Amino acid sequence: MERLQEALSRARDRRREAAQTAEGAPSSATRSADNSASGHATQNTGGATPVSQDVAAAWRALPQFVPNEKLLKNNRVLSFFGGAVAQPFDMMRTRLLQQCKANGYRRIAITSPTPKCGKSTITANLAFGLARQTELRVLVIDIDMRRPELANLVGIRENLAFARVLGGHEPPEAHMIAYGNNLAFGTNRVPSANSSELLHSAFARQQIELVERKFAPDLVLFDAPPMLASDDTIGFLDFTDAAILVAAAEQTSIDEVDVSETEIASATNMIGVVFNKARYSQGSYGYDKSYY
Ligand SMILES: Nc1ncnc2c1ncn2[C@@H]1O[C@H](COP(=O)(O)OP(=O)(O)O)[C@@H](O)[C@H]1O
Ligand SMILES: [Mg+2]
Repeated sequence: MERLQEALSRARDRRREAAQTAEGAPSSATRSADNSASGHATQNTGGATPVSQDVAAAWRALPQFVPNEKLLKNNRVLSFFGGAVAQPFDMMRTRLLQQCKANGYRRIAITSPTPKCGKSTITANLAFGLARQTELRVLVIDIDMRRPELANLVGIRENLAFARVLGGHEPPEAHMIAYGNNLAFGTNRVPSANSSELLHSAFARQQIELVERKFAPDLVLFDAPPMLASDDTIGFLDFTDAAILVAAAEQTSIDEVDVSETEIASATNMIGVVFNKARYSQGSYGYDKSYY
C-alpha cells in the first residue's frame, strides 16, 4: 500500500508541476452567484446561511425514509451511527468540508476506476456523516444509472427514478426522499438505458440547477459511474467542482488510478484518493489513509 501511495504521489507531483500555469475552474458556488436574479438565496459551502421560506417548504414537503440500522451496519454505512465506528468517515468528512470551504466547492463527484471499489459505500458514509452537522444541507444524487445501487445500500425501498428528473419528465420531489431535515437522496431503483446521453446533456444539468435552487444544498454528492467502464463520468465531471477517487486495495492497479486521476484532473478539481477495502487498516471498517 505504501509503495502504491508513493508511486501515485510522485505521479501527482509531476502532473502538478505541469499544470502549474493552468488556472483552476470556477466552482459551482461561484457560478451560482450569477443566478442570484432567481430570487433564491445563494448558498456557500459551510452552511448556516438563512434559507428562504420556499427552500424550507421544499425540504418539509419531501417524503422521509427510516433507515434500517441492521442493513446499514451490514453494508458498512457506519457513519450513520456516529461515535467511534464513524470516526474514519468523520475525518474524511472534515477534510472534505475544509477543501470545500477553502475553494468554494459544492458539487462533488465520487468515482473510481472500475466498478465495485466502494463508491456508493463511501458516498453514503460521507452523506450521513455530513448530515450529522445540522447546519449543512446535503443532497446525494445517484448518477451511476447503469448500476444504481445507492438505494439498496441505504435501504430506500420507494420506487424512485431520479433519471426521470434529469430527463425533465417529472419534478424533483417525485423522485427524492429525505432523512431528517438536511439530507435528501435522489436515487434510481432500476438502471437507465440512456445514462451517457442523459449525463452529457445540457438539459440534465439545467434540471440539477433547478434542484439546487429549490433545495439550496451546501453540498451535492454525486455517486458517479466508474471512470474506465464508460464515458458517462468524464462527460459529466466538468459540471462538478471536484471529485474524489475511490481505489480498492488489491483490486485497483496503480495504472488505473493514474489514468483515472489524469482524466479527472483534466475536467475538474481532484480532491484526493480514498484507499478502500484495505485488509490491514487500523480501523475495523477496512479503509486505509485517504489522502487529500
Ligand atoms: N471497506 C470495505 N471492505 C470490504 N468490502 C467493502 C468495503 N467497501 C465496500 N465493500 C463492498 O464492496 C462491494 C462494492 O461496494 P460499492 O460501494 O457498491 O461499490 P461501487 O459503488 O464502487 O460499485 C459491496 O459489496 C460492498 O459491501
Ligand atoms: Mg455504486
